Amino acid sequence: MSDFGLFFGKFLRQGTAIASLAPSSPWLSRATVREVDWATARVVVELGAGTGPITRVLAERAPDACRVVVLERDPDFARLLRERFSGRPNLDVVEGDVRDLAAILADRGVTRADAIVSGLPVPSFPADLTRSLFRDVGRLLPDGGLYSQITELPWVYWRFYRRFFEDVRFAFEPRNLPPAGAYFCRGVKPLD
Ligand SMILES: C[S@@+](CC[C@H](N)C(=O)[O-])C[C@H]1O[C@@H](n2cnc3c(N)ncnc32)[C@H](O)[C@@H]1O
Repeated sequence: MSDFGLFFGKFLRQGTAIASLAPSSPWLSRATVREVDWATARVVVELGAGTGPITRVLAERAPDACRVVVLERDPDFARLLRERFSGRPNLDVVEGDVRDLAAILADRGVTRADAIVSGLPVPSFPADLTRSLFRDVGRLLPDGGLYSQITELPWVYWRFYRRFFEDVRFAFEPRNLPPAGAYFCRGVKPLD
């Protein structure tokens, strides 16, 4: 089955847990990772990888010295990602829920990340999961570290992400179905 067929079928069955009709286009995938500093990055974490369009760009760009940890909750997507990226020794695919992010990374010896790239449907998360995600993001990233987030509703969630980050910029990417974009967020605000 094509990536689109697999993705769309899951969207029809699971709705907001998948949260988009189709995998991100190559243009959106490249836009989402464009602020990762590959000259210095040693650990990059991807959250909610789906069929892996952003993972593909990360795999192409990450030098051997940079570890890429890819988290995906859906077992079919996780299996596909493992098959697709098994040739990349610096890329680990983990099947799991972002609710357990800190423990999943700690089990793999990861306590810091230089950048976090997210395809997660964060605005549909319950409030407690959103807070736990951004608390973990704040602990993992260095000061000013990048949290990059795709969206298919351009600009709509700018205020939402400003609640959690000091600096939020948006890049529009019309070459996606539907037109979409990425938020580049830095400076996690303290929670509690
Ligand atoms: C909008 S899709 C993005 C997929 C892919 N990154 C892309 O750009 O095409 C959201 C993905 O997040 C995953 N996801 C949703 N909730 C999750 C959670 N709590 N933990 C881990 N992954 C989750 C879904 O299974 C889905 O693959």
